[in-house]
Amino acid sequence: MNATSNLHSVRVSYDAVAEDYARLLESELARRPLDRAMLAAFAECVRDEDGGPGRAVADLGCGPGRVTAHLTGLGVRAFGVDLSPAMVAVARRTHPGLRFEVGSMAALDVADGVLGGVLLWYSTVHTPPRDLPPTFAECARVLAPGGHLLIAFKAGEYRTRLERAYGHPVDLDVYGVPPERVAALLTGAGLTEVARLVREPGDGERSPQGFLLARKPDPDAPGSP
Ligand SMILES: C[S@@+](CC[C@H](N)C(=O)[O-])C[C@H]1O[C@@H](n2cnc3c(N)ncnc32)[C@H](O)[C@@H]1O
Repeated sequence: MNATSNLHSVRVSYDAVAEDYARLLESELARRPLDRAMLAAFAECVRDEDGGPGRAVADLGCGPGRVTAHLTGLGVRAFGVDLSPAMVAVARRTHPGLRFEVGSMAALDVADGVLGGVLLWYSTVHTPPRDLPPTFAECARVLAPGGHLLIAFKAGEYRTRLERAYGHPVDLDVYGVPPERVAALLTGAGLTEVARLVREPGDGERSPQGFLLARKPDPDAPGSP
């Protein structure tokens, strides 16, 4: 499948599952303390030193906005972008005070160097690893110097075909990517790894889950070469 038809399949599939996905994952984060710990660390990195909300943070591939809302609850100025209009409609209805836009994370309608953070929370799991570099380059482009990126992904090296999900027919591949490969690709996009976590599968998960926090270098920061 080429990149365009893959995006089309992802959009159509998530349009079909949007309502049920939102319902089934509504309280999923409550069962995942380590995932919440990574989000809390990310929130602390992107907020101002005095605890103010800091620069805006994009939740790319936000789905129904559950993590956008979680970040907002942690004091982050978060907004969401998703390829699927049905997902964005659910997000807007569920979180009317937050901003959600339809768009692709590989071509963002955002100026260079303006965001304090970018979150990719399981939103690259349908992107073939060979197509990750342009997405990571786009994330690096929109981050301000010193801004942070947090990615959650399936850790491994596999491709699983999904023809049914959340009670609906879908046309999706799910990719596991080794954490070293994610780290190398982020480094290739000009970001510096800060920390990574790999945890064992929890209930409902089939493989280890990876989390990687990276930072865009700030040449004007004290102590920079
Ligand atoms: C597994 S869901 C995760 C949703 C959300 N981050 C969450 O954790 O609930 C993947 C989401 O990424 C979105 N997505 C996939 N590729 C995308 C792209 N290129 N640009 C924007 N969104 C994308 C899908 O539409 C879907 O909503």
